[in-house]
Amino acid sequence: MSERKFLWGSATASYQCEGAWNVDEKAESMWDKYLHENNLENGDVASDHYHHYKEDIRLMAEGGQNAYRFSISWPRVIKNKEGDINPKGIAFYSDLIDECLKNGIEPYVTCYHWDLPQYWQDEGGWLNKDVAYAFKHYCEVLFKAFNGRVRYWSTFNEPKWFIFSGYMSGNYPPCHVNQVQEVIECCYHVMLANALAIQSFKEMKIEGEIGMVASYQTIYADKDDEAYQQAIRNADNYCNNWQVETACVGAFPSDMVEKLKKQGYDLSFAKAEDLKVIHDHTVDFIGLNYYSPQYVMPYQGGETVVKVNNQGKNYKGNLHTVVKDWFEINDELMKQLPHNPWGMVIYPQGLYDAIKRCSKYHVPMYITENGLGMYEDIHQNGIHDTERIDYIREHVRCLLKAKEDGYDINGYFVWSPFDLYSWKNGCEKRYGLVAVDFENDCKRIPKDSYYWYRDEIKNNWEDLKK
Ligand code: BG6
Repeated sequence: MSERKFLWGSATASYQCEGAWNVDEKAESMWDKYLHENNLENGDVASDHYHHYKEDIRLMAEGGQNAYRFSISWPRVIKNKEGDINPKGIAFYSDLIDECLKNGIEPYVTCYHWDLPQYWQDEGGWLNKDVAYAFKHYCEVLFKAFNGRVRYWSTFNEPKWFIFSGYMSGNYPPCHVNQVQEVIECCYHVMLANALAIQSFKEMKIEGEIGMVASYQTIYADKDDEAYQQAIRNADNYCNNWQVETACVGAFPSDMVEKLKKQGYDLSFAKAEDLKVIHDHTVDFIGLNYYSPQYVMPYQGGETVVKVNNQGKNYKGNLHTVVKDWFEINDELMKQLPHNPWGMVIYPQGLYDAIKRCSKYHVPMYITENGLGMYEDIHQNGIHDTERIDYIREHVRCLLKAKEDGYDINGYFVWSPFDLYSWKNGCEKRYGLVAVDFENDCKRIPKDSYYWYRDEIKNNWEDLKK
């Protein structure tokens, strides 16, 4: 097991917090275009982190945190398809990184958290293999610019969600619905891009480590017969394994590939030379974003349906998933479990089980996101977000138990240090330890959870040093 500094931090994503969407020669992202064109709540200003980052980082440091996970906006850094660099974009992230270091905070950088440049979306986005090579070039620019100052790099954040939401449920751009063949091709291109970036990282002899961040939905069922076991395996492949296993082991799960072939999907785009790149360039660590488990059962019949909670501001959670010939979500069971107002089940033990199950890959692990979205009135005297404190406390308890039991878990990041824009749900779905008063110059107001997290870190810090 690795001996490494334990990271206690919090996490954001560029589009969700920076604002400044058209400042300093930033190019348009696919999210800018999609939300503007459809007149939906957008991240034009968001938390205005672009102008408040010093205050935000100071608050993290004063809140006892020693790491900040943030993403870099590709369209802020690379101006066009030709790959020309925007020096103002580089300067912004350079300052942000320096500010972290000055405050004793490890910058934990994600290269891609969903804001694809629109100039690449116009060329087919992740359906186009050229985008994988453009991603490699973009990452090389970042590695070169920030080498020596950033020790922790992640290629992607949650390939599953941006692909499945873009090509299955259709609630994220480019809004294609149930296009399974497209999903498969995007997954392939993204995992190739991940490996290409890792290859560059190693060839350029960049200091530090490179990993990937995956969403992890711990899969359970309430029965254990053969049909249920198969449904669990199918759901695990669908939700988790194609990201985590492929990144750690260097090959897509073979039973999943066989199943796709049997179902008649065209996998002829998969080339031996790409599969070799994927095989030869695996991650140094894996980040797991854990929010919620999934209770599944065998497929009962009917067409594929995928409904998720991010359907817009007033959507109050009507989740449903049937994947034809694979599995179904056990809606009845899920409804009985504690959940947030968007229907997301709360189950801290799932975090422990996620760590336990992923330990078979023998790479260091981090919980790179975990947190609770709430409707909150921030205009009161003191923001008493007790439910969030309870949520984080229980999840941290499971994480510490996993550490105690010998699993190679090395950090925990709350989503999020301050309120930000929640994809499609807008800014009213708040996750922050610090409130952002979006109507009042994005003023920052620490919530009870901010102080609680500071004390929790302090207590556990001492324990972790032992
Ligand atoms: C993760 C993403 O899936 O969950 C974040 O990495 C996201 O970008 C977070 O904001 C919370 O989800 P949501 O949909 O409630 O904002």
